[in-house]
Amino acid sequence: MSDSIIGAGPRRIDGRLKVSGAAPYAADHYPDNMAVGYGVFSTIASGRITNLDLSEARRSPGVIDIYHHGHFPSLYHTPSSMMQGNKVEETRLPFEDDRVYYEGQFVALVVADNLENARAAAYKVKVSYDEDQAIANLDQGVKAHGTQKGKGNHSRGNPEASFAGAAHSIDYTYTTPVETHNPMEMHATVASWRGERLHVYESSQGVLQEKGALAKIFGIAPNQVEVESPFIGSGFGGKLWMWPHAVTAAAASRETGRPVQVVVPRQQMFTTTGHRPETRQRLRLATDDRGRLVSIRHESINTTSFTDQYVETCGSVTKSLYSCDNVLVSHETTRVNRGTPTSMRAPGAAPGLFALESAIDEMANEAGIDPLEFRMNNYADRDESQDLPFSSNHIKDATRQAAEKFGWSKRTPEPGSMRDGHEIVGYGMAACNWEAMRFPCDARVSLRADGTAYVTCATQDIGTGTYTIVAQAVSDVTGLPLERITVKLGDTSYPEGPLSGGSWTTATTLPAVAEASRKAIEQLKSHATSGKGEFGDVAAEDLSFENGQLSHNGRSMNYTEVLNAQRLASADGEAHTGGADTSKYSFRSFGAHFVEVRWDPGISNLRVSRVVSAIDVGRAINTLTARNQVEGAVVMGLGMAHFEATDYDSRNARPVNNNYAEYLVATHADQPEIDVILLDNPDYEFNEYGARGIGEIGITGMAAAVANAVYHATGKRIRELPITKDKLMENIPEPQRA
Ligand code: MOS
Repeated sequence: MSDSIIGAGPRRIDGRLKVSGAAPYAADHYPDNMAVGYGVFSTIASGRITNLDLSEARRSPGVIDIYHHGHFPSLYHTPSSMMQGNKVEETRLPFEDDRVYYEGQFVALVVADNLENARAAAYKVKVSYDEDQAIANLDQGVKAHGTQKGKGNHSRGNPEASFAGAAHSIDYTYTTPVETHNPMEMHATVASWRGERLHVYESSQGVLQEKGALAKIFGIAPNQVEVESPFIGSGFGGKLWMWPHAVTAAAASRETGRPVQVVVPRQQMFTTTGHRPETRQRLRLATDDRGRLVSIRHESINTTSFTDQYVETCGSVTKSLYSCDNVLVSHETTRVNRGTPTSMRAPGAAPGLFALESAIDEMANEAGIDPLEFRMNNYADRDESQDLPFSSNHIKDATRQAAEKFGWSKRTPEPGSMRDGHEIVGYGMAACNWEAMRFPCDARVSLRADGTAYVTCATQDIGTGTYTIVAQAVSDVTGLPLERITVKLGDTSYPEGPLSGGSWTTATTLPAVAEASRKAIEQLKSHATSGKGEFGDVAAEDLSFENGQLSHNGRSMNYTEVLNAQRLASADGEAHTGGADTSKYSFRSFGAHFVEVRWDPGISNLRVSRVVSAIDVGRAINTLTARNQVEGAVVMGLGMAHFEATDYDSRNARPVNNNYAEYLVATHADQPEIDVILLDNPDYEFNEYGARGIGEIGITGMAAAVANAVYHATGKRIRELPITKDKLMENIPEPQRA
């Protein structure tokens, strides 16, 4: 394998299309005769619709029809199985009955000739409710009806007994709020029935799952459904699965006989398209007198909806990051009147590592050991939860490299002891960790007579750089330059590719693309050595192919000449590659974040001033896009640490900051210097490229690194995200004035 293009940092091949506005997103499609649907959304979080007064809305200009629970086609439920390829997170169908389970639920859909008319009419629909007392948050849920058992639970040894007899121990509870995916592009569907076939443009991280779900819901064969999502304004997990708006669009299109577009308004992006649930996590850790972990218990509860159980697996990392004989990880859920939660960047691990890595810091302090040294002494060398070796684990190296670059050795352990003028400086660190996954994948590569390569795979590029790395893999195998490689993704008519999620797209897709490229070259050689070919006297296996040239014994010819001489359009290769074999190794990615915060008690200003992150994901295929992923994840982690929280009114479970103005995320001004170290330890047990994937790991541990730095600066341990300034405004050591 040539090293030139793999591990290089070429710019995104789709960058020009995107910055010039030429890249088509879902709602950019306007099929002929398209109508527009606009939702009417519940204004209560729990209860029943008693009346819908549609009279004024019906008289509104341009209205074609209004759908609601009394007027909507009868559809089927999808089994919602990821393995069957038809998963959704909210299994209840829109308008299935008169029940309301959360504020912002679809209670009607007005279809009109254009957006303005649809929206104007939607505002005129008058809904009456019989309102029940809503369950507004985790505490209320637990109090009202307790918890249900989750999944991903684990236990080994006897954590209770070893805790009781330990030299040092801690027992703290950490909480994280609802966080809501806020991709720039809102969820959008353009659905068109063409006879018995349904065509959909969707902003989706998984076109094949949407195709499977729509087929089940409409009771048709999967091959009657086509879903396209060539570009998406990102999703962060919120677009892995189809949400109710897509069903309303497809049904309205079938009923009206016209293409129908439905865009989810920003406010309902907070209610009816998933979110990261609220969590409460109790951490009990204990060590022996030398600071070795002897007991770990991580018990979490997360909120879910009344219609579905979503489990946030907060303890997923806790099972294997540290060496310990006595471990308990448990997950439970409690129902609240919110929409169904879903995966949000590093589901489980992001809130889970906030708790675990905060607790490790507290444990190290309790045992009187530097938190870096404490981790070094306790990191696991093998996956003790599965009793398997890690395929590759360089967390100690990552931690050392980042510590060195950050200057951890300058840290003085006493909280508030590092001052710089009117600011108090705090240093904190945390581990990051994410499972590496790889699934079966198909891909097709054509080497065309015009000198280009044409690649298809149904996986998506969600803004992460998939188009570019697929082209890099083809270039690597064929020697063609990137500008002569056309990559087509995000279309169910292409060979089956993975969901763009779980950080598994790279590891899953690239081996299939490489194999398809090799098969295309094989076919090319067989054309060249066939009776009619230029190398008719040569055995195919004796022919070499390099940089577009076919050669044998000093005779050389460009492959395009070979194809053109036989009037062949292309030589093609199709490949199917398998998933990871998880029986021999535990595949995980590792890393460490080091964070400097500055607290100015005079004006109560807190900022993150410096971040050094060392990430070990095996090999990075594209160092530019890989670095972008880590930088983006670090910024999202800062947002999680300081700002992000969807707040609900405790009286009625209605979200109060469901808009871009009041839901705070980290902005440019909040961004410090971010120094990303990409370790380069190719993991060839995982795939031929040694790549494990990089989208999510960067957010894991980030909020804990900030919390640990805040503790070091202020002496205040904040166990409730987000760490807002008001939580720091008491009992802060006064800075020394020069
Ligand atoms: Mo990711 S939360 O699997 O898109």
